[in-house]
Amino acid sequence: MDTQERNRSSEPTVELINPIDLPNPKRREFLAAMGGMGMVLVAGCLGDDDEDTYLITFTDQDIEVEVATDEFILFQALDEGVEFPDNLCEIGRCGRCTIKYDGDANDVVDHTEDQQALEADQVTDGWILTCVANAKANFDAVVTRPGD
Ligand code: FES
Repeated sequence: MDTQERNRSSEPTVELINPIDLPNPKRREFLAAMGGMGMVLVAGCLGDDDEDTYLITFTDQDIEVEVATDEFILFQALDEGVEFPDNLCEIGRCGRCTIKYDGDANDVVDHTEDQQALEADQVTDGWILTCVANAKANFDAVVTRPGD
């Protein structure tokens, strides 16, 4: 084995993960970990915050969900039995996890930069892409899609 081969064999290997290829439970764990990282860092810098959960009432399904601010709304809603369409990408691309708030959605959620399915004016009209949105207020919403 020459020096170049020896160096190559000792190089660490990096396995890239495509979240879309993961089964749903593993994808949710991966995305929650990735999305939560920034919030954990921010929370660590700010210290304890009294208001780290909010209540979202899904009025079309009569379900209230207490959501943690450091987790995306979709996964917490699914855990509480809120029904969404099938085949969710869970990474902000397909646009199938939308809910509608009666007001400017910027007042009640923060979308991450992964939000790719909604236009800015749709967000100000109340549309929320739940797989990449964190709550920042209590609010009522319905599960629906633009155009439905
Ligand atoms: S599940 Fe696809 S955009 Fe949210």
